[in-house]
Amino acid sequence: MVQEQTITIEEQYIAEHPRSHELYERGRAALPGGIAHDVRYAKPFPIYIDGALGSKKWDVDGHELIDYTMGHGALLLGHSHPEIVDAVVAQMRKGTHYGAGHRLEVEWAEWIHRLIPSADRVKFTSAGTEATMLALRLARAYTGRDKVLKFAGHFHGWHDYAVPGNSPPFDGVPPGVPKAVLDTVVIAPNNDLDFVERALATADHDIAAVILEPSGASYATVPLPDGFLARLREITARHDVLLIFDEVVTGFRWSPGGVQGLTGITPDLTTLAKIVAGGLPGGAVAGRGAIMELLEFKDDPAWNRTRKVQHPGTYNANPLSATAGVTALRLVSDPAVQRGADRLAENLKRGFNEAFLRHDAPGFAYGESSIVNTVVGTRYPGELPTDLRHPVGVPASALKARGSEKLLMTLRAGMMLEGMDLWHGAGAVLSITHTDEDIVRTVEAFDRTLARMKAEGLFGE
Ligand SMILES: Cc1ncc(COP(=O)(O)O)c(C=O)c1O
Repeated sequence: MVQEQTITIEEQYIAEHPRSHELYERGRAALPGGIAHDVRYAKPFPIYIDGALGSKKWDVDGHELIDYTMGHGALLLGHSHPEIVDAVVAQMRKGTHYGAGHRLEVEWAEWIHRLIPSADRVKFTSAGTEATMLALRLARAYTGRDKVLKFAGHFHGWHDYAVPGNSPPFDGVPPGVPKAVLDTVVIAPNNDLDFVERALATADHDIAAVILEPSGASYATVPLPDGFLARLREITARHDVLLIFDEVVTGFRWSPGGVQGLTGITPDLTTLAKIVAGGLPGGAVAGRGAIMELLEFKDDPAWNRTRKVQHPGTYNANPLSATAGVTALRLVSDPAVQRGADRLAENLKRGFNEAFLRHDAPGFAYGESSIVNTVVGTRYPGELPTDLRHPVGVPASALKARGSEKLLMTLRAGMMLEGMDLWHGAGAVLSITHTDEDIVRTVEAFDRTLARMKAEGLFGE
């Protein structure tokens, strides 16, 4: 009993996850860091999962977890949605790769065309990273210009044009990115439209496109000011520069038509992944017919040699991803899906903020759509509204960091001990399979974890 009262979150986490610990030690020899995606890095070690269904997943030590990572945002319909499972299993028996076109890729493209306002036409890729890579190449080919402008902190995957400016210091040199590529990526300070205006008006008139997450950096972790998208659309159109919405996260989550469906502001090109492929690997670029035409073959050897943008890719629109994608898009085309997940996120956000207030603990939860963002260790300036949507007066760097590594890792471990896997250690991505009971239990667990962290002196106040 005495020991239970004194054991720290970290000690208990280590004690209760022996099989994950062992897999981590074993995995490190074969996998750098023992993980397959940087965001899964965790201290003292990550957990390893054995299975998942709906809003739950089970780790190798036998714990049931309410999952708030939801396939990094891909699983708006929850883990292993029965209709997606049936479609994929049936397709598995019919073949996973035809080395040829098939009906499902046509249907999949038609669904995107129907739902996403800018999608005159669609081309499939294997992931979001490939989608932004192709969109930027299309923009350069279409305009004949070499540079692209992105915003500090906006995430567009991990190819050479995407990683510059991803994380602080935003002007750093990411290892492995050629200097020649860096010279073609203009990084605008977060949300700074005056910078964009100046760069497009002056610079060297060599900017092909502006790319951004239309929610603001990292799914509204750093929200956009009111009117931002409309002004950006106006500036880019006036300078004849293409506008690319990276809707890899927001597509089909913010609304069935993504941010563009919600705001009525239409980009020239859109990149999609995650929900678009129903939980299997896949992505897409969609956009204006005149730009997408560059992907076509023509009866003109000169065009095919000098104008056509090359786009092979062994797993583009593979039948498994295509059938999962078609099934998912049919389901998420009903706005009740997004409304349901949004409501759960709203309740979770309120519950987290009430817990911060109850414990007088530094931190706040906020967010849009069905994603809850949480900052730990920073007090909200002024009174904290429990339904906070956009934080005001908190620097973008603090929002993007979410808290110190120590606080985030401890909150993550503490919540894991309560049976919840939070996104980025602190936030939550919701699905339609989460229940009101999940939310109530999670808020109670958050409350106890904050109390424990306070008792461990982690808030240092
Ligand atoms: C906005 C955005 N763009 C692009 C990507 C890259 O997608 P993928 O991980 O499928 O390569 C991500 C991934 O999280 C993303 O959030």
